[in-house]
Amino acid sequence: MYSEKVMDHFTNPRNVGEIENASGVGTVGNAKCGDIMRIYLDIDENQIIKDCKFKTFGCGAAVATSSMATEMVKGKSVEEALKLTNVAVMEALDGLPPVKVHCSLLAEEAVHAALWDYAQKNNIVIEGLEPPKADISEEEIDE
Ligand code: FES
Repeated sequence: MYSEKVMDHFTNPRNVGEIENASGVGTVGNAKCGDIMRIYLDIDENQIIKDCKFKTFGCGAAVATSSMATEMVKGKSVEEALKLTNVAVMEALDGLPPVKVHCSLLAEEAVHAALWDYAQKNNIVIEGLEPPKADISEEEIDE
């Protein structure tokens, strides 16, 4: 079923909480399952992510992938964070059951939404960053 790493990040999630005066905040939901994810980024003047926190109203797989995703973007540049895919996060967790793959998209999309918010606030363009979607369920491939 779930790998040990998934269970570890689910039972002991890293970086839960919020960042006051965050550089960027992104919220996405999946209307099909009703789960919601919010990511906060603290980004310095060199565009390096100093801190990252998340809050979720979501399933265990969403918690575990968000926990891992926040760990993986910390210390990265905004460009590097943009390249972090849900597949890389799942690999870092030693995989997810196929029906739970879509949950990992919440974290990826919420990071993108937070980067978008940061870019908007600072009037900068991050190459390759698309405007965020509030609901990602339309994108899903039927399982
Ligand atoms: Fe909705 Fe997992 S079931 S994110």
